[in-house]
Formats: sequence, structure tokens, C-alpha cells
Amino acid sequence: MKVLISEEEIEKRLEEIGKQISNDYKGKELTLVVTLKGAIIAASTLAKRITGDVTIEFIKVSSYEKKESTGELKIELDLDDDLTGKNLLIIEDIIDTGTTLYYLKNNYINRNAESVKIFALLDKPSRRIKDIEADYVGFTIENKFVVGYGLDYEEKLRELPYIGYIE
Ligand code: IMP
Ligand code: MG
Repeated sequence: MKVLISEEEIEKRLEEIGKQISNDYKGKELTLVVTLKGAIIAASTLAKRITGDVTIEFIKVSSYEKKESTGELKIELDLDDDLTGKNLLIIEDIIDTGTTLYYLKNNYINRNAESVKIFALLDKPSRRIKDIEADYVGFTIENKFVVGYGLDYEEKLRELPYIGYIE
């Protein structure tokens, strides 16, 4: 296992982004929408660096079966149906093809959210299929399969305190 991004680098970057988010949402209620399971470690580090009127919710999206054919994903664990007046910040581990976030963002906009923004710990722009970008990106990386800090390989290695890859 090679270290791509160390724990120190991640924490430093999330502190910066936390300040930026605190500033951008000053005077507003903010809901952090944490996607299980991959985003939990980044979300907990980031949340500690955000000041303001914050609520934390969890969602879970699956799976790959429908994804290829329709681009639609199933939300297994979801927010309340009516999102009127909510400022949502979706917290994701990585934006890869963009399919997941494209679907989620549009779904929440259609449910009347006041605003929907995206934080992604990692961004792999070279893999993008859908026209979507994150509003806050921890690190942009090349097309490598990475693990750790919440990201898994077949459900393993999420617990690594850094972002790593297998050579
Ligand atoms: P997208 O819908 O293609 O953007 O896929 C995003 C999801 O794919 C992420 O939430 C991850 O679960 C998974 N994923 C994409 N790239 C990686 C990787 O390098 N390591 C681990 N999981 C990944
Ligand atoms: Mg995921």
C-alpha cells in the first residue's frame, strides 16, 4: 500500500474547507447530508471544522444494477420527502463518473430544497460521464483506484487514516 495523501494533509485541507463552508453559509441553516458508508470519516473530520447552525443527516444510495441502464439510483436511506427551505450540502467520498451525485442533486432540487451543493473529498475528473462538479473538493486525483479514509475495496480498508493505493 502506497500513501497518496497523508492524514495530516487531509486534516489540513478539511480545516480550510470547513472555514470556507462556515463563511459561505453564515446566517443560514445548513444540513450536511452524509452518504454512507464512504463519506463518514471525511464528514466527521470536516464537520468539526464547520461553525454555524448545522444539522447532520445520513443517506445511503445503491446500487450498480439500475445505474447502467437508466442512470437512476435507489436511495435506500433518505431525507424527509419535503425539503422546502433546506440548504443541503451533500458529503461524498469521491466524484468519479458523477452518476451518483448527478442523480442525488437533481432529486433534491426537484424536492424543493432551497440549495443543493456538493463536497467531495476526492475528484477524478478524467472519469466523468455526467455533467456535474463538486462545489468543494478536497483533492483532485488521477485515475487510480484509492482506498482509506472511508473509501473501500470490497468493504475493506475504510479504516486507513490516509488515502492509499495498491501499486
Ligand atoms: P460515481 O457515481 O461514478 O461518481 O461513483 C462514485 C462512487 O464510486 C463513490 O461513492 C465510491 O463508492 C465509488 N468509487 C469510485 N472510485 C473509487 C475509488 O477509487 N475507490 C473506492 N471507491 C470508489
Ligand atoms: Mg460510495
